[in-house]
Amino acid sequence: MSILVTGGAGYIGSHTCIELLNAGYEIVVVDNFYNSKKESLNRIAELSGKQFAFYECDIRDAEGMDKIFKNEKIDAVIHFAGLKAVGESCQKPVEYYDNNIGGTLTLCDVMRKNGCKKIVFSSSATVYGSNNISPLKETMQTGGTTNPYGTTKYMIEIILSDLFKSDEEWAISLLRYFNPIGAHKSGRIGEDPNGIPNNLMPFITQVAIGKRECLSVFGDDYDTPDGTGVRDYIHVVDLALGHIKALEKVLGGTGLDIYNLGTGTGYSVLDVVKAFEKASGVKVNYKIVDRRPGDIATCYSDPSKALEELGWKAERGIEEMCEDSWRWQSQNPNGY
Ligand code: NAD
Ligand code: UD1
Repeated sequence: MSILVTGGAGYIGSHTCIELLNAGYEIVVVDNFYNSKKESLNRIAELSGKQFAFYECDIRDAEGMDKIFKNEKIDAVIHFAGLKAVGESCQKPVEYYDNNIGGTLTLCDVMRKNGCKKIVFSSSATVYGSNNISPLKETMQTGGTTNPYGTTKYMIEIILSDLFKSDEEWAISLLRYFNPIGAHKSGRIGEDPNGIPNNLMPFITQVAIGKRECLSVFGDDYDTPDGTGVRDYIHVVDLALGHIKALEKVLGGTGLDIYNLGTGTGYSVLDVVKAFEKASGVKVNYKIVDRRPGDIATCYSDPSKALEELGWKAERGIEEMCEDSWRWQSQNPNGY
């Protein structure tokens, strides 16, 4: 079985490539390195002990993508490639719609022309918007996204659903990730954000390593146990393993399925800071500042559908997430 992994050099993609190789799949990676480094591919080979095909190509390049499908026998696609920075998406909406939606449309067109109709897509809990009450279930209403990034995920879910309605030979899995953190146990691959991190864990690890002075905690007056925002943090290796289960399902038949990939447990910002300090033995300097516009108080999943239908459940707790994030950061202070 040969699986095309778009965006395979990125954070979640690289961890998923390792689990795919460990599970015995052949992989073909495509990435344009917009937000990743070639070194991550060397490390996937090092950690798995296996070689794999790689193409440096933009998924919007229909001709380039078609060549990949003609050169390789692709059985299914796991589609990570996309832009993901919420703040940047507000500054560059055209680029976000073009890359995320344009890229997905081109990919689907090339896939069907080459007779490949199986895809696992990286969606996000952001599609639930701000009006649903956690725990979030797949049956809840989606939409009401507050930034172009979130809207691309919502729109791609609709596009893929329409594609399935038009042709039921497709097998499509929409995976709604909650907040991925952590890194591979080896400390050899992990999240390597460009510039100032937007997300909580990379900011914490950069404060701990001395690259940043102080964590700004965005608000302590939310309606949560300690007043800081509550999220469902999930270890990236658990997330990667969820993709293997979703892949098995799309390889096994046709249909369109949606799954939350989360732990079902919410932790506040201060819970994460404390857990990180305990795991790393390093004090994290923080201060409380104003709320960040667009943030909600609480967001966590009901992950029971993935357990019932895929037999998947997140196994790694917050301690392990913090230990592994810290191992990656401390062994690679400047990323790759
Ligand atoms: P990432 O930026 O580390 O990985 C994305 C990869 O896609 C990068 O290697 C980038 O170079 C590549 N890429 C982007 N546009 C491309 C294009 N046009 N052609 C070819 N390659 C392209 O991000 P990640 O955290 O690994 O996220 C992977 C996917 O999961 C994204 O679609 C993201 O929106 C989604 N997601 C991420 C999170 C999160 O918190 N990390 C949460 C929910 C959903
Ligand atoms: C954000 C995005 C979401 C995206 C997800 C993964 C927003 C509004 N949402 O989710 O669309 O899918 O990232 O990329 O940006 N926090 C701090 N200080 C910091 C950073 C974060 O206090 O420096 C807090 C936040 O207020 C939040 C929690 O930590 O309560 C987690 O934040 P973050 O890691 O950015 O993820 P989300 O906001 O949940």
